[in-house]
Amino acid sequence: MFTEQKFKIPALKGISAKNIEEHLKLYAGYVKNANFILDKIKELKQDAEKNAYVLGEVNRRFGFEFNGMRNHEVYFKSLEGGASSLGDGELKKAIEMKWGSLNAWLAEFRAIALTRGIGWAMLYYDRASGQLLNAWIDEQHLGQLQNCALILGLDMWEHSFVADYQPSGKKQYIEDFFSNLNWRAPEHNYQVALL
Ligand SMILES: [Fe+2]
Repeated sequence: MFTEQKFKIPALKGISAKNIEEHLKLYAGYVKNANFILDKIKELKQDAEKNAYVLGEVNRRFGFEFNGMRNHEVYFKSLEGGASSLGDGELKKAIEMKWGSLNAWLAEFRAIALTRGIGWAMLYYDRASGQLLNAWIDEQHLGQLQNCALILGLDMWEHSFVADYQPSGKKQYIEDFFSNLNWRAPEHNYQVALL
């Protein structure tokens, strides 16, 4: 079973405490439903033949709930502890090696974040090739990269920003996310990914 994590999110620039509170409820829903699906599968497989169609559909939804849970854990973790800039460490070196500079990476990542539709802008570490990759994920799970560690995730579902920014404020939300970001979190994720 999966356990709901608790996050201590300080006052943020642009993103209200109320929105964070509501967003955390949505995160709790992913944890609850990931657990619910595992329970449901256990129950349905007792008569797998009779329940084949329902079992298939329930199985299909597991990636949505599971990734919804994990994506939000990475997102909220990166907003804990107060904003800090990217330090002169391994992650900075890896970003500069791939994109030339932090600003060049940011430009690409921002553009990905503006992809139309609901989803996530992600920075991954591909263990197989030893390089960082930016990617857009539809919903919570469509396009997740196999065997890649999630280093940084920016939630671009409307629930993460519309209450504070209106739909037209998407760009400002992205800017504010980076103003609020504690880079210690992605730096830590990168260190863990390298182990
Ligand atoms: Fe979200």
